[in-house]
Amino acid sequence: MASVSHLVYSRWLFHLSKSTSVSRHSSQSRLFSTSSRCRTIMPAWVIDKYGSNDVLRFTKNASFPVINYPNEVIVKVFAAGLNPLDVSMRGGYGAATLSMKRDPLNITQSGSEFPLILGRDVSGVIMECGLDVKYFSERDEVWAAIPPWKQGSFAEFVVLSANEVSHKPKSLSHTEAAAIPYVATTAWSALVNTGGLSKDNCAKKRILILGGSGGVGTFAIQMLKAWGAHVTVTCSQNAEQFVRALGADHVVDYTAGPVEEPLSTLEKFDLILDNVGGGTERWALNLLKPWSGAKYVTLVTPFLQNTDRLGIADGMMQTAATVATKALKHLAKGVHYRWGFFAPSGPALDEIREMVDAGQIRAVVEETFSFSQVPQALEKVEKGHARGKTVVEISKGGDDL
Ligand SMILES: NC(=O)c1ccc[n+]([C@@H]2O[C@H](COP(=O)([O-])OP(=O)(O)OC[C@H]3O[C@@H](n4cnc5c(N)ncnc54)[C@H](OP(=O)(O)O)[C@@H]3O)[C@@H](O)[C@H]2O)c1
Repeated sequence: MASVSHLVYSRWLFHLSKSTSVSRHSSQSRLFSTSSRCRTIMPAWVIDKYGSNDVLRFTKNASFPVINYPNEVIVKVFAAGLNPLDVSMRGGYGAATLSMKRDPLNITQSGSEFPLILGRDVSGVIMECGLDVKYFSERDEVWAAIPPWKQGSFAEFVVLSANEVSHKPKSLSHTEAAAIPYVATTAWSALVNTGGLSKDNCAKKRILILGGSGGVGTFAIQMLKAWGAHVTVTCSQNAEQFVRALGADHVVDYTAGPVEEPLSTLEKFDLILDNVGGGTERWALNLLKPWSGAKYVTLVTPFLQNTDRLGIADGMMQTAATVATKALKHLAKGVHYRWGFFAPSGPALDEIREMVDAGQIRAVVEETFSFSQVPQALEKVEKGHARGKTVVEISKGGDDL
């Protein structure tokens, strides 16, 4: 009974989307159609509980995504990029806040996020557009970073708001394109929205990236160099050539001893992007130019751990108290202390696409896996120290388009 009502509900929602002439003229026949456009299931990697890699399960019967709002699109996934967040989310990181975001009124039971599909990066083709979608058409090649509260891209299809989606760079394959959106929109949010940088004010600014050889760092180096900044990077010694090839002007090896010592001999910085966290806050803000508007932006924040540990209300209060105390303490010393967060953004990806197609930013793919190898791909990301992104090739197109 439940599955029949789900089917009817799904088909009713299908009315919200632009549909084929068959569906416009005969909603009754669509209920029993076997065409691929009326599918109710799809292949996907899901998890049914949090844990290590053995919680991953492949199924051919994952729920087919449904257009719930008229500004949504369904994307057929060609390639899915992996991020350390996928490993963390598999283990339950952020579950309290993400569950609240999925179900703000707390109507469903705990655990209702399962079966959960991981995967934050997608490159693919629009399969279907909601009625209000003007900027995209079916068959457009697109890329997007998927918010962590939505079902992810380790699946044949994913539904997204059109605001989160952008046309894919023409110069990249789907596999290359899937390596960029999540790290790019995170770096964009941290550097542009939080750090106040733009292509017009970056020239000659001195920027320090702590942890420059990872996903966010490698994108940030390229974007800042394209905007004319002077970029200093910390990374391990064996990543030096890699980050220099991306444009880093000065490289400091964090494995050679306390990294703050060589950094403190350099001219002071206008902005620090911290991808490392931990003890870095104890010394990093001393490297900023005081009383000049210089900012420290860290991507490593306790926000989600606080809400996981203390619950939503107490976790948020603890978070607000922590960030306010730190911001005030550093403001008194003439520098700005900020937390940066990933923010999904189609418009940011539009600007990034132009930089990619102009040859200013390249995709750095270290290894690709097939759809059947999602667990191996996650295992690789979990080991860390990659020199480029890991990407899963999901589909090469076909019957559904
Ligand atoms: N707040 C948010 O919304 C948000 C969003 C995205 C990411 N993040 C966080 O941002 C951080 C970076 O993400 P990512 O995707 O770039 O991770 P990643 O690909 O795993 O890269 C991390 C890099 O940090 C380097 N590293 C480790 N310890 C270091 C140290 N002490 N000094 C300098 N470099 C060090 C590693 O370099 P080597 O291999 O050379 O050792 C590694 O390449 C992660 O902590 C992630 O959780 C936060």
